[in-house]
Amino acid sequence: MMLKICNLKKSYGKIRALRDLNLEIEDGELFGFVGPNGAGKTTTIRILTGLLRADSGTVEIDGQPMRCGDGKLKEKIGYVPDFFGVYDNVRVSEYLEFYASAYGITGLVARRRYMELLDMVGLGGREDHYVDSLSRGMKQRLGVARALVHNPRLLILDEPAAGLDPRTRQDFIQMLKEINKCGKTILISSHILSELGEMCTDIGIIEEGAMVLRGSLVDILAMVNTSNPLEMRIYKNLPEAVALLRRHPLVHNVTIDGNQVVAGFSGGQMDEARLLGQLVTEAGALVGSFGRRQGGLESVFMQITGSKEEKVVAQG
Ligand SMILES: Nc1ncnc2c1ncn2[C@@H]1O[C@H](COP(=O)(O)OP(=O)(O)OP(=O)(O)O)[C@@H](O)[C@H]1O
Ligand SMILES: [Mg+2]
Repeated sequence: MMLKICNLKKSYGKIRALRDLNLEIEDGELFGFVGPNGAGKTTTIRILTGLLRADSGTVEIDGQPMRCGDGKLKEKIGYVPDFFGVYDNVRVSEYLEFYASAYGITGLVARRRYMELLDMVGLGGREDHYVDSLSRGMKQRLGVARALVHNPRLLILDEPAAGLDPRTRQDFIQMLKEINKCGKTILISSHILSELGEMCTDIGIIEEGAMVLRGSLVDILAMVNTSNPLEMRIYKNLPEAVALLRRHPLVHNVTIDGNQVVAGFSGGQMDEARLLGQLVTEAGALVGSFGRRQGGLESVFMQITGSKEEKVVAQG
């Protein structure tokens, strides 16, 4: 287990930023930490990186309990903050050398290390450029190189893709995937689920200071998929097909629009297949298309974090 957070609580005066946060991240995960503005992502990350003290609760990193001001554990974490500072007249190499020296890495070892990192983040050959002259996307990559300079096991990024254009973001995500494949566990936060969806192996959704959903991307999509209605096109024996649907114990809310029928369905994939068979053999219907409506990741997010009554997915 790379990270284990238990009953974490944090208030700023009267504002309860973290109500009761529990989260586990396994070694090797590329974990997407998703939640709307103000959900508590940055607060959590600042506690993990030792910048902020929790009111109560425990954090374990790589099996060891974390205490405030514990330098040893900080070495296991690389942190890319949500804002990148401004640096005048500093070259990329000097910038990375400075951070390496903070971890006691100097001289040739430092140089070999940052050259390797620059290659890894796609900035190879730019060691003599001034930091200020880099584009926003390149600065983000440099931030990642800086965070990796002491070879941490866990890389934490707070909304790194905010403000990047789609292409730059795609490239950035590709880079993170590769870093993950090289053996780093990664936690990345965002308020946009679809921004992380395709890249992450696992997703956790935080709302109002508590996790509301946690699972693999595949499981979350499947879970939400079964809450989407069945859509079908029926070209023959429509009344018989509709009558069969209305009698079916797993079907609810049948609506008809021309030859298109939409129905709520609380069964699994095998039940779907059986229903299709019944429509053909028992109702004599000619079925043109049949399947669950595909909800995008963003609709999932809206369903989970929307008003309480509309929630369709509960903690699994
Ligand atoms: N220094 C602070 N003083 C007072 N309240 C704060 C402070 N920092 C955060 N908060 C409040 O705590 C709650 C959680 O904030 P946090 O920044 O952790 O959320 P977030 O998920 O990172 O949001 P965003 O997506 O906007 O970055 C919010 O209600 C915020 O207003
Ligand atoms: Mg934040």
